[in-house]
Formats: sequence, structure tokens, C-alpha cells
Amino acid sequence: MNAVDFRSLKHGDRRIAVTTCYDFWTARILNEADVDAVLVGDSVAMVMHGHDSTIPATIEMMALHTGAVVRGAPRQFVITDMPFLAMRRGLGPAIDAVEALVGSGAQAVKVEGIAGQAELIRHVVESGVPVMGHLGMTPQSVHQIGGYRVQGRGDAAVALLDDARRVEDAGCFALVLECVPAELAGQITDTLAIPTIGIGAGTAVDGQVLVLHDLAGFLPDFRPRFARAFRPGAQQLQDAIADFAAAVRSGTFPSEKETYR
Ligand code: KIV
Repeated sequence: MNAVDFRSLKHGDRRIAVTTCYDFWTARILNEADVDAVLVGDSVAMVMHGHDSTIPATIEMMALHTGAVVRGAPRQFVITDMPFLAMRRGLGPAIDAVEALVGSGAQAVKVEGIAGQAELIRHVVESGVPVMGHLGMTPQSVHQIGGYRVQGRGDAAVALLDDARRVEDAGCFALVLECVPAELAGQITDTLAIPTIGIGAGTAVDGQVLVLHDLAGFLPDFRPRFARAFRPGAQQLQDAIADFAAAVRSGTFPSEKETYR
């Protein structure tokens, strides 16, 4: 899969499945998985580094995690988030940032928002790097939008639809729609020629993305309304650790089979 294949999924007969990934061993599992792309999201700052927003993510952090993911999942299409403000310091620094991510192995970058950066996105695309857009609830703007809340309700729908058209006009190959009313997400999906990938945007989109730790049930204390834990991952890990500790204490680990003679 690459950006051209991904874009053509818009007209395919199946929906697009994308998950985040931040590290080598998870990437090795994802390398064998039936997903269409792997996103090194700036949610890495929260999930892997314990920050309370995505704002502390840096280019260095994104490049480091991208390299690990690409080494673990060489057959997956890897997209990496441009972190907070990386597109706002002008053309030169933005291209340096893109270069660092692509140099780490990213095959495409994702950019939140469109206002004030359509020209830059076009320049990145014309420089040979595919760009995925991201509209709706854009977590990097959490302070501007006053919290993690649904975007595009009421009168704001017209502006969001217009922004979506601008994302496509700027040359993006796909668009993430986060926390958008399902009807509006459907309208955007019908309007655009590029695929829409929803997260909290209902089913009338071309695909879905979820944070891997949410879908695998590794973050049981954090469950946004749009996320589903498909397995009790945290419980399974706790059980494995408890079994290990119990076996150590009872003397049943290591067994003869696990011992060198
Ligand atoms: O950073 C991230 O994980 C994301 C997805 C949730 C879309 O941007």
C-alpha cells in the first residue's frame, strides 16, 4: 500500500482500516495485520510518554518512533503526524521537519488543520511527500477550541465542509475527520474525491482509525465515546504478569525445559 493505492480505496468495495503504532514490537505484530495504513500519531506523547495532550510531541520524538515502526512493519504504509507548530514556522523549517520524518521512513505525513497552511501543504505535496489532512476536533488546537469536543455542529458545519474542500484542493490524498457529527462526515465524504477516515465521525465515511491502545483495551481508564476496546488487553497483560510472579514465587518457573544444563 502507498498513498496512490490508499487514495484509490475511495472507490473500492471495502472500508479502510487504520490504527496507530508507536514502537517496534507492536509494529512487528501490525506488519502481519490486515490494516491499510499505520499512523505514528502525535498521540504518542500521551500514550507512550504520559503527557496530557499531544502538544509536547516534537519532531525528534516523532522521528524516533517512526524509525522504530518502519523497522518493525516494513510492509505497511506508514504515515507520521507533523507535531504541533511544525507547519507554522515557515517553509524552510516545515520542509526540514518533513525531511526528518521521511528520513526516518515515513511514507506520508499528516497535518492538522488547513487555515494558514494550504500553500505549505501544497508545497510539501509538490515536493513529493503525500499529505493526509485532519479536520474536526484537532487535538493540537485543544486550547483554541476549548477542550476535546465535537466540532462542526450547527452553523460551523458549512465552514468545516469548506475546509474539507480546501484540504482536497491543497493536494491531500486522504482526510481524517475527528469528532464530527455523522451527517456532516457523510456529506464531506460524498463531496470529496479523496477518502475520509473517521474517528468519532460515524459510519458514512470511507474508513476508520483508532488508537491501537484503545482498540486493544490497554487504556481501560480512558475510554472516549467513539473508541471500542475489542479485547481486554490490559487485563491480559496483568494476568500474564501475575502468572509470572506467582510462578517465580512458587518455584515453578523456570522449569527444567527452561533451564540450561
Ligand atoms: O495522533 C493520533 O493518534 C491521531 C489519530 C487519533 C487520528 O491523530
